[in-house]
Amino acid sequence: MGGMHMGIGMIGVVGAGTMGTGIAQVAAASGFEVKVFDEFEAARQRSIAAIQRLSASSVAKGRSTEEERAAMLARLCYADDLGELADADLVVEAVTEVLDVKLEIFRRLDALLAPGAILASNTSSMSITALAAVTGRPASVAGLHFFNPAQVMKLVEIVRGYHTSDETVRALRELCGRLGKTGIEVKRDTPGFVVNRLLLPQLREAVKILEEGVASIEDIDTAMKLGLGHPMGPFELQDLIGVDVCQSILDYFRAEMGDEYTPPVLMKQMVSAGMMGRKTGRGWHDYAGGGK
Ligand code: 3HC
Repeated sequence: MGGMHMGIGMIGVVGAGTMGTGIAQVAAASGFEVKVFDEFEAARQRSIAAIQRLSASSVAKGRSTEEERAAMLARLCYADDLGELADADLVVEAVTEVLDVKLEIFRRLDALLAPGAILASNTSSMSITALAAVTGRPASVAGLHFFNPAQVMKLVEIVRGYHTSDETVRALRELCGRLGKTGIEVKRDTPGFVVNRLLLPQLREAVKILEEGVASIEDIDTAMKLGLGHPMGPFELQDLIGVDVCQSILDYFRAEMGDEYTPPVLMKQMVSAGMMGRKTGRGWHDYAGGGK
């Protein structure tokens, strides 16, 4: 359907990691045709397996029917060639948080997609303006930042780069509605946008409190859950996000905004030790016993 942002029909997702998988599932469940590109066969297989498992459990819980599940899976396909995303009206990039990798994907997508197709990044903190600058369509580039797990969390940050048009923001707002999400507009392209700008200093401070021996991991988690009503404490949340991801966002904040964002020594040690959270089976907490 390529074209002037009129009704997004086909959505491309680049990167079949945790976020790309969640976004693809939400989009397919909401009636969109979805193509997911990942160069790694293992990543594609993990992604489809996760969607099959999560959608089966949703049927088992009576949240959806077997027919809806089958229709959702039929709208979803995986590609080992980025070229297969050429007819997408919107592509959401959700690859690793390495600027050069993202820039290369944006260049290739810009050459591939129809004029008017929207190019969005799920980056958690990087500059949308910098991504847009390597394309010939900066007005049609924006941030579309989902939260983990994307199947569950209701918020999407719609981030304006310097040149992002009102029309692009409007199309993405409408899209969020169709995905059952609430979009908020981030009017200026700044590190971490709104949520991570507020969240990462808090996660950082939790590690500092631990380093200073003020309280234990368990008690700090309990404090934030019972004292502030957060669904997860700061250490549980780091384990969900990935301690390595938290560190890389803080590294970026430090480079852009100053030393007060420096990742704590203990956080860096956790990453070096391979204790990155749920995905490695151990982080601040132990998930060896079958954590989600
Ligand atoms: N993937 C997909 N679905 C999941 C899931 C996952 N990893 N984990 C839980 N769910 C689903 C369950 O299937 C269940 O669905 P149902 O309502 O249809 O049965 C629902 O979520 C609730 O799950 P549970 O009952 O098992 O567990 P909880 O009630 O404890 O909720 C939670 C789990 C939704 C993860 C909740 O603890 C929570 O909201 N935690 C905070 C998450 C958060 O803050 N995320 C933002 C991270 S920051 C970020 O992403 C930004 C990035 O840039 C760093």
